[in-house]
Amino acid sequence: MAKQEKDPVSGVETTGHEWDGIKELNNPVPRWWLYIFYVCCAWSLVYWVLYPAWPMGTWHTAGILGWTQRVEVEQKIADAKKAQSGFTDRIASSSLDDIRKAPDLLNFALAGGKAAFGVNCVPCHGAGGQGNPGFPNLADDKWLWGGTLADIYTTIKHGIRATDDAETRPGVAMPAWATDSAPAKLTAAQISDVADYVLSLSTKTADAAGATRGAPIFAENCAACHGDKAQGNQDMGAPALSDGIWLYGGDKKTLVETISKGRAGVMPSWTKRLDDPTIKQLAVYVHELGGGK
Ligand code: HEC
Ligand code: HEC
Repeated sequence: MAKQEKDPVSGVETTGHEWDGIKELNNPVPRWWLYIFYVCCAWSLVYWVLYPAWPMGTWHTAGILGWTQRVEVEQKIADAKKAQSGFTDRIASSSLDDIRKAPDLLNFALAGGKAAFGVNCVPCHGAGGQGNPGFPNLADDKWLWGGTLADIYTTIKHGIRATDDAETRPGVAMPAWATDSAPAKLTAAQISDVADYVLSLSTKTADAAGATRGAPIFAENCAACHGDKAQGNQDMGAPALSDGIWLYGGDKKTLVETISKGRAGVMPSWTKRLDDPTIKQLAVYVHELGGGK
């Protein structure tokens, strides 16, 4: 170590370091800084003892308080469940109409229904329930199986043509008219004509001559399920064919395909997959999407 010398101007000792004639003075660090430094050291010691701190390979020092983020999350979930249980109990014991009439229950059901819809229904029915080809729009006021709260509840609870639920919506399907399985097999020309007739009910673009030939074919083969005026029949889930709203598509090619090959959309039954209060919340949510009766 270099010999200690004092700076002649300030009278402070130098450290002996010198660069190009500039010398470093040996001033002590300020008191306030030093005290904060000691406090930090003390605080970190306490922290190491109380909380998880040092990584030790595959484990870490756990700290005597036993605190972890996982425990904290579990606690929060338990608290939330407890806060909700009052509502879920009331939903379990209330009728669908009573849920809709009580504003706090309704709000709770709408939020719960929305969450359950996002998890279970969106892949088929779309994020806002707007539907996809083959999967009906749930936000409009056209219903295959009925749009009252009770209808919607039954549809969700037991599904449509679901093979694993004896109470499911009945399995009447749209026959495949180009095959022998149909009540009366139709020729390609007849199918084209009846498709033109169906088109003419909602658009003016259909082939007029075909539509005229198709009308009696419809009356004979189709009206039994779809209704005289093709207004549909909710008892068997036969859609209206006159409203310009299509489950599978309303262009001529799709209509010919639907009529030739038949259709039998399957909606899963949720009885075994969701508890009853959740199904009630879903029914209320779907009912409020815009088309509830
Ligand atoms: C695997 C696809 C699929 C999933 C998942 C699904 N659905 Fe469906 N849903 C369908 C199909 C297909 C139909 C139409 C069946 C038919 O052709 O009659 C349908 C019909 C419905 C209907 C009747 C609509 C009407 O016009 O009467 C309601 C209500 C409904 N679904 C609600 C739900 C709810 C709520 C969920 C979530 C819990 C859900 N669906 C999940 C496929 C699905
Ligand atoms: C046994 C009853 C029954 C008969 C008879 C029947 N249908 Fe259907 N039809 C249905 C059902 C049920 C559906 C809905 C299928 C589904 O939801 O997957 C349907 C669906 C359709 C659709 C699809 C509608 C859409 O929105 O995409 C068309 C088109 C159609 N039928 C036309 C006809 C024509 C034309 C005839 C006569 C040649 C006919 N149907 C006879 C029961 C029937």
